[in-house]
Amino acid sequence: MDAIDWSNLSFGYMKTDYNVRCYYRDGKWSDPELETSEYINLHMAATCLHYGQEAFEGLKAFRGKDGKIRIFRMRENALRLQSSCRGIMMAELPVERFEEMVLLAVKKNAHFVPPYESGASLYIRPLLIGTSAQVGVKPAKEYTFLIFVTPVGPYFKEGFKPTPMVIMREYDRAAPLGTGTYKVGGNYAASLRSGEKAHEMGYSAVLYLDAREKKYIDECGPANFFGIKDNTYITPKSESILPSITNKSLMQLAEDMGMKVERRPVLEEELATFEEAGACGTAAVISPILRIDDLSENRSYHFSKDGKAGPVSEKLYHKLRAIQYGDEPDKYGWVT
Ligand code: COI
Repeated sequence: MDAIDWSNLSFGYMKTDYNVRCYYRDGKWSDPELETSEYINLHMAATCLHYGQEAFEGLKAFRGKDGKIRIFRMRENALRLQSSCRGIMMAELPVERFEEMVLLAVKKNAHFVPPYESGASLYIRPLLIGTSAQVGVKPAKEYTFLIFVTPVGPYFKEGFKPTPMVIMREYDRAAPLGTGTYKVGGNYAASLRSGEKAHEMGYSAVLYLDAREKKYIDECGPANFFGIKDNTYITPKSESILPSITNKSLMQLAEDMGMKVERRPVLEEELATFEEAGACGTAAVISPILRIDDLSENRSYHFSKDGKAGPVSEKLYHKLRAIQYGDEPDKYGWVT
């Protein structure tokens, strides 16, 4: 294996030694199995291929200064996967099995957890798919759950530097009563056209408006949105936003820093009143927003005059990272 340039990792895929799998058949999950192949053998009529029966998760492991590996809030991911399974009628994986398999995948690939100094982490990608053959539009009877891991750097190439985002009213990511709150591939497929268009125009991500009225802020590319004003952390509440575990953690940290926290519908116009804004998620951590252009309305909202992240985003970012890397005691019990 070539030496890994830990400090210059992108958010990409790199082969690691093992993945972990288990199978749902006859109403039961099998014991976990270690695999070295990166491939899965699938029936061509598997429901995941035709009818989108697939859900995934994203969590991270961090190596601390003390050399220890810490996994962030894996129970939350296990619970969210169960919610996604209920959302698209797949067999639910027990929380304990999820946790056991995350630990196994990380332990077996421990030398791929980047060193502390690199600021990088090991991304853990659990995936649950419908595998039995089905031509009618119905849920599968059999499922595969697997976890692979890969070392990653920042999701947005700017890292923790403010980056421009865009509102494009001609695209939606998810319908209000659809699957937006579940972590299913279809939501990400629906974001590809607008995402690519945004990238071609020099934006990092699309800030989606609610699909019903096109008035309220919804999801922010593959992440949640937050704004800061008057010592308040504000994040949109909607029927189509994925409940981000990073956002939930930031809400807690903001509250403990003495800020008010509001999770409520956020009108687009309110963007003009925010002192800071950002996207947050496991992959993105916090990506401060430089500017949001609303193309069809010919309007722009600016959040950083000097090209730097605002003081609250900066504080939240460092606090979260300190817990994840073990620089600060984990008083919340977030880390395994
Ligand atoms: C995450 O933040 O973990 C995500 O799943 C976002 C993206 C990479 C799909």
